[in-house]
Amino acid sequence: MSTQALLKQLYDTPEENIIEQIHALKEELGDQLLILGHHYQREEVIGFADITGDSLKLAQEASETKAPYIIFCGVHFMAETADILTGDDQVVILPDPAAGCSMADMADIEQVSRCWQELSEVLSPESSVTPVTYINSTAALKAFCGEHGGIVCTSSNAQKVLEWSWGNREKVLFFPDQHLGENTALAMGVPEHEMIIWDPFRHMGGNTPEAIQKAKLILWKGFCSVHLLFKAEHAATMRKNHPGIQILAHPECSREVCEAADFVGSTESIIQHVTRADTGSKFAIATELNLVNRLRIRFPEKPIWFLSPMVCMCSTMFRTDPQHLCASLTAIRDQSQLNRVSVPADQRRWAKLSLERMLNLA
Ligand code: 13P
Ligand code: SF4
Repeated sequence: MSTQALLKQLYDTPEENIIEQIHALKEELGDQLLILGHHYQREEVIGFADITGDSLKLAQEASETKAPYIIFCGVHFMAETADILTGDDQVVILPDPAAGCSMADMADIEQVSRCWQELSEVLSPESSVTPVTYINSTAALKAFCGEHGGIVCTSSNAQKVLEWSWGNREKVLFFPDQHLGENTALAMGVPEHEMIIWDPFRHMGGNTPEAIQKAKLILWKGFCSVHLLFKAEHAATMRKNHPGIQILAHPECSREVCEAADFVGSTESIIQHVTRADTGSKFAIATELNLVNRLRIRFPEKPIWFLSPMVCMCSTMFRTDPQHLCASLTAIRDQSQLNRVSVPADQRRWAKLSLERMLNLA
């Protein structure tokens, strides 16, 4: 049966039966299988993950597992990363191949190669610029970084990666998320006048040769539409309405939100922060809704608010539902058509190098 036909059948099946089937298939597949789940996954899916985590933790887990099948409940760049870090005989599956990341789509290899070329009109990028890609990017961009002396970073190691990068070359080209780069550099004390924005739709990114020569950090003009829905005014309202509240923000939020926050960190570190806090502590959290709702249920003794009055959900993370998970498990059991994510060999080699540079910093 094709994946489409199987999915159709599963959508006609009551959800409790699907849940039972997932339990049974997991049991049957045993240690043939590892399910990795990102913290933004919906409640009905995350409970089936053998390991949950942020992008860094899940990449580390992928690099260590020997399981022949890895189902990645997350988005495409995460599954690609897992494929790069696992052996050729291991299969990485993304339950819904349409689960992408709109931020990762904001920089492609043609645009970044053009940027490198334009930079070479005013300086020697190979000796003076370290390319740093946020893990939320295609394998082609990770390969670009591997080939050009660069590295990958995540939201939990961006500072360490920038230190490494500036230790090697005087400038950093950071893509695709402007905000993670900017917030991390500001926290490290890099002055604003040493940063420029690179707009991929303008020649020289919209900068003068002098501005490029002076810049220490070149920030790609990319963003996460989910995290930019949080505003500094939301933090001010929370503080007014709930004295003593702590604001926690993901570094993909704008500079204004991060500056208004008491703590800025990855999804995993936000969870740890709330876990370690005293009973009665109050939080308003600026990151994806599924994670915030989960924390609210897990810690009823620590009142938690979602920072924005609007719903900020990652629609692509939401694509993975029990039906898609069940279809992936069924396909593994039946050795039939899988939504396998497989990075081409030429990208794999260089992308692995840039990921290993990052993992070696841990
Ligand atoms: P984390 O690595 O902090 O989990 O972030 C991943 C992500 O996509 C946030 O939008
Ligand atoms: Fe991408 Fe934003 Fe979704 Fe994270 S929350 S996966 S950055 S679109």
